[in-house]
Amino acid sequence: MILSGGEGTRLRPITHTSAKQLVPVANKPILFYGLEALREAGIRDIGIIVGDTEAEIRAAVGDGSDWGVEVTYIRQEAPLGLAHAVLTAEPFLADSPFVMYLGDNLIKEGVASFVDEFRRKDVEALILLARVEEPQRFGVAELDGNRIVRLVEKPKVPPSDLALVGAYMFRPSIIEASRAIKPSWRDELEITDAIQHLIDEGKQVEAHIINGWWKDTGRLEDLLEANRMILEGVVSRCDGSVDEESRVDGRVVIEEGAEVVRSVLRGPAIVGRGSKVVDSFIGPFTSIYYGVTLERSEIEHSIVLENSHISDIPGRIEDSLIGKNVEIARSMARPSTFRFVLGDNSRVGLV
Ligand code: TTP
Repeated sequence: MILSGGEGTRLRPITHTSAKQLVPVANKPILFYGLEALREAGIRDIGIIVGDTEAEIRAAVGDGSDWGVEVTYIRQEAPLGLAHAVLTAEPFLADSPFVMYLGDNLIKEGVASFVDEFRRKDVEALILLARVEEPQRFGVAELDGNRIVRLVEKPKVPPSDLALVGAYMFRPSIIEASRAIKPSWRDELEITDAIQHLIDEGKQVEAHIINGWWKDTGRLEDLLEANRMILEGVVSRCDGSVDEESRVDGRVVIEEGAEVVRSVLRGPAIVGRGSKVVDSFIGPFTSIYYGVTLERSEIEHSIVLENSHISDIPGRIEDSLIGKNVEIARSMARPSTFRFVLGDNSRVGLV
């Protein structure tokens, strides 16, 4: 089960119009990494929890055949919490054990060894944990050996540095537990409360600790970091064209039909299908998606979504997430003023 509903308040204004799970990281929608991770773990039957962005998720994932899996869409009436998503999926889950994977999470090593361990063990739930530097920011587990004794959300005094990563293995007992709990202060049915309910009933809930990196991409900083991590691993490739006056340094992917003219590209970076880079600079950790034009501008450590146009920007664009069909251009018209058409909750930083 992949959770791809939610409100995505922390990624507004992108999430006013689009699903955050479909934001591309290194030019691949985040959700696709999750689908691949589940398929690699041998899972073929995948339910995707969807909300208001159902149509967009359906259009991107289809019936799952591109991944060799069978996808069932499960509509959650409102984002009322992860345990509410479990209750919503009850008819799909039936009496099967299952993985619950948060659709905006990236787990480098995937979930195959996690799923294997659950298949071997007779435990009620297996929770994926990772060591983090600021446990105060996360849901944190208190362990006794391998056994989880308590889960606390954003603790002031963390009982450990082991944070909950966005993947869980459950048996149908989590459905009863989700039914037993009450909504939290933020009015959501919390999965941590449902797991705590299992523990309090004396059920065996164990930890599986991962060593590799993972990222919850719910905030811009984390999304850019995930983009950085994935771009670190790209292998240079040029399926488009680069003219003789351009220079490409380091690992850069240029997808088919992309054109680079009189520009400098310094990787790791990726330029998507049909995009055009003219008299520009693309610096490290930048992902340019499909059909973008970049003219007489400089950009680094950013993600630009499809069909946006950026031209004649006097300073370098950095640490930015630019949505679809966005236009950022310098205007020579008088009076010489700033002119914006920005969606709700947009953020602009000027020098
Ligand atoms: P979150 O990132 O915790 O919640 P959110 O998407 O509402 O974001 P924000 O806090 O910025 O408002 O959700 C984790 C994942 O689970 C994400 O992929 C969305 C999904 N989700 C659901 O599908 N249903 C839900 O009820 C909730 C709360 C989240």
